[in-house]
Amino acid sequence: MGSRSFVCPGRVNLIGEHIDYNGGMVLPAALDLNIKLTLEEREDEEIVLSSENVDYAERFNLKEDIVFNKNNRWTNYPKGVIKALIDKGFNISKGFNARYSSSIPLGSGLSSSAAMEVVTAYGICSLFNINLSKKDISVLCKSVENNFIGVNCGIMDQFAVAMGKKDNAIMLNCDTLEFNYVPMNLRDYRFIIVNTNKPRELIKSEYNTRLRECNEGLLILKEKLSINTLCELTLEKFKEYSYLIKNHNILKRLTHVISENHRVSLAKAALSNGFIEDFGQLMVKSHISLRDNYEVTGLELDTIFQEALKVKGCIGSRMTGAGFGGCNISLVHKDNSEEFKDKVSKGYKNTTGLNCDFYICNINNGVREVL
Ligand code: GLA
Repeated sequence: MGSRSFVCPGRVNLIGEHIDYNGGMVLPAALDLNIKLTLEEREDEEIVLSSENVDYAERFNLKEDIVFNKNNRWTNYPKGVIKALIDKGFNISKGFNARYSSSIPLGSGLSSSAAMEVVTAYGICSLFNINLSKKDISVLCKSVENNFIGVNCGIMDQFAVAMGKKDNAIMLNCDTLEFNYVPMNLRDYRFIIVNTNKPRELIKSEYNTRLRECNEGLLILKEKLSINTLCELTLEKFKEYSYLIKNHNILKRLTHVISENHRVSLAKAALSNGFIEDFGQLMVKSHISLRDNYEVTGLELDTIFQEALKVKGCIGSRMTGAGFGGCNISLVHKDNSEEFKDKVSKGYKNTTGLNCDFYICNINNGVREVL
């Protein structure tokens, strides 16, 4: 029987960090690092999940109750998606073999998990003629992450990897899911992604803590203001009402969210007009706010940030993704990219003892079938 193959990219967020679950604007882009899925229909009702990267596979019957594997196996992502499709009443009429391979560095903050969810949903929908748009698929996969995997993430990652467009960033309103594509007009500059290679241990607990702090702040502000999300507040309105927030940490978290959301609009305008230096400055401000107000950076990300900005031709730099390790993204003149890699890797090694990796950021399409 024939097989069909699908790829889904990872994503990088250019600016707008820790904004999606606060209902604001983000500016991510899909990468040309992918998870590839090959699907092959079977004659029975068995589902077999395997990977070329990880030596662990799972097999179960389509009619079985699909449950989370408590040892945190990678198969939880496809299992969650299959369960969500079945629970929604879609007809997966036969078993299948699903084989995955990834060029996205796993656990590096470039959304390998969102890519695995979205490629699974898109592949199965294509194979069984299930009529779900890419946007619907991203919403379904976010709910898998929230309800099956147990991570309270926002919509940004799943949306970006599903809806990405070559050479464009996506300006997404995370409250309404309205979006538009922003052409990358970088003149002689390139985005370079730097992987700290720092394992992200703290991420789940700290991520949920930040979410809780934002929700606490929102509840207090709602006593006086008629808002549904923090990002409905302008900077001016927030200044006027910030006296209501007595807890210093919560005040800092909100200061980040509202200023970052404002920076995304400025960044979009800068990018659209080719004002690359202004975009770079906004990246720097974003990192500083994530470091000082949101407190999600840490030694590794702060070291890359500092080393990057010392290099001639680097006009912007920031952490990207959830933080606590993972990746940085820097905006570097094309003539300086080799010098950038050399100096940043030496400076980083000196301070942290770790080696970092670099990826030239080519922006590609979202999930799709390949021949
Ligand atoms: C992770 C989450 C996203 C988003 C970012 C921070 O990538 O999955 O939903 O909250 O962190 O911007």
